[in-house]
Amino acid sequence: MSAAPILSLSDITTVYGGGKRAFGGPRAEVRAVDGVSLELREGEALGLVGESGCGKTTLAKTILGLLTEKSGSIRLGGQVVSGLRPEAARRARPSIHYVHQDPGAALDPWWTVGHALDETLRIHGVRDRRERAARIAEMLMAVGLDTSFLSRYPHELSGGQQRRIGLARILTLRPRIVILDEPTSGLDLSVQATVLGLFNDLRHRLGLTYLFVSHDLSVVRRMCDRVAIMYLGRIVEIGPTAQIFAAPAHHYTRALLAASPTLTPGSLDDMPSLRDDPPSPTAVPSGCAFRTRCAHADEQCRVERPDLAAVTDTAHGHLAACHHAFP
Ligand SMILES: Nc1ncnc2c1ncn2[C@@H]1O[C@H](COP(=O)(O)OP(=O)(O)OP(=O)(O)O)[C@@H](O)[C@H]1O
Ligand SMILES: [Mg+2]
Repeated sequence: MSAAPILSLSDITTVYGGGKRAFGGPRAEVRAVDGVSLELREGEALGLVGESGCGKTTLAKTILGLLTEKSGSIRLGGQVVSGLRPEAARRARPSIHYVHQDPGAALDPWWTVGHALDETLRIHGVRDRRERAARIAEMLMAVGLDTSFLSRYPHELSGGQQRRIGLARILTLRPRIVILDEPTSGLDLSVQATVLGLFNDLRHRLGLTYLFVSHDLSVVRRMCDRVAIMYLGRIVEIGPTAQIFAAPAHHYTRALLAASPTLTPGSLDDMPSLRDDPPSPTAVPSGCAFRTRCAHADEQCRVERPDLAAVTDTAHGHLAACHHAFP
């Protein structure tokens, strides 16, 4: 039943820093994304979950072509789009668009909504003014707003309206893949529920594929068909949403779930807790990166980095990178 991949990442690594500072010694290299392989299937919503700083936005920007991967390859609809210079990399991916983590920052405070949306389409080569106006009106409607919003400035919008405008803006570009980066952060619960319902509805109506970045597991459970769990730049578990929530295999996933009490059935209260912050990404532990916070870690975890492997013979597409995966 699994659809064909629309996007495939193979062993993608993206780093910050390295090299020398203008003054002083070498800069520490941060491997913010470290050997990620991932497929997005046509029409699905894949959740990407992990603590702050684990590399979610870096991965998103690498997929978009806004950051250049250090190694690995990316295929979009069968075409290799990696190994390109930044400008060319972005141009090679016209069907992928991004809803910014900070909707305020994505909108110029001096521009009206109308000007911002029009400019986006102009930059993307839509020359006909009437065509631009028609697409903008259509997508404002699609996100539950109307053309009266065209004359507003960003500060005259609520958080929920900013999210809708952010989505409308990229929908005018007719994307096939939308990367939503923390699309409900900062919204109160009732607004969040409405915005999520809208995103869900639009995905089905427009046949979109979502990469849904969030550290909120309850949101991901509601929105996504599959979930990938990221820790210090690596995917440590991936699988169908129902399996990830009912039978998490990696101890990190179990700890994340334990930290969301409303999601955790009582029978899973042996789960570990995440007391400390994750280690610095400039000093990733040897072996399994999670071992310094894991109650089950042993010598093997210290020396041998676990690869993603099938959790059980029967659990299709449920993989975990753990030497002592929970049965
Ligand atoms: N421009 C940058 N230069 C250097 N390091 C960076 C840069 N941007 C991010 N990093 C580092 O890369 C790592 C991954 O950051 P990233 O923003 O991808 O995390 P994230 O998972 O999106 O976090 P959050 O949930 O807080 O948005 C972090 O250690 C971060 O400090
Ligand atoms: Mg981020």
